[in-house]
Amino acid sequence: MEINQLIKTAMEALPLSYAPYSKFHVAAALLGRDGKVYTGVNVENASYPAGMCAERTAFFKAVSEGCREFQAIVICGGKNGKVEDFCPPCGICRQVMREFCKPEEFQVILAVSQTEYKIYTLEELLPVSFGPDQLKKENPGIFCT
Ligand code: THU
Repeated sequence: MEINQLIKTAMEALPLSYAPYSKFHVAAALLGRDGKVYTGVNVENASYPAGMCAERTAFFKAVSEGCREFQAIVICGGKNGKVEDFCPPCGICRQVMREFCKPEEFQVILAVSQTEYKIYTLEELLPVSFGPDQLKKENPGIFCT
C-alpha cells in the first residue's frame, strides 16, 4: 500500500466525522499487517467526555474485526473539516497505539495532502512508554527491594 493511497483513504473518510461541538474534524486510515485498511473518524457527543477520537475509532474497529498487528496510520484533520495543518494524535490515542504496535516500527503519518506529510515512529511520539510487557514481569526491578 502506497502512502499517498492511505492518505487519500483518510481524506475521503473526513466528511464522515461527527464533530458538531468542536467543529474540529479528524479522520484516520489504519493499515493492518494483513494489508487491510481500517478508517476512523472522531465521534463527539452532547455529553462531551463520551466522544471518541478518530484514531481510536480506527483501532477499535480493526481489533474488533480480528486485526491486531499494524504497519502505519494516517491522520488528518482541521477546523470545519479543512485540513490546513498537521494533526498530531492525542496522548490517549498514542497509548492505544502502544498496545498493539512496535514503537520503533509503527509509522504515524500526519498528512495535510497526498504530497505534504510527516512520518514519525511511535517511539518518537511516545518515548519511554508503558506497554503490555510491563505487566508480564514477575520482578519490576529497581522498584522492588
Ligand atoms: N481528536 C481526534 O479525533 N484525534 C486526536 O488525536 C485529537 C483530537 C478529536 C477529538 C474531538 O472530537 C476533536 O478532535 C477536538 O478535540
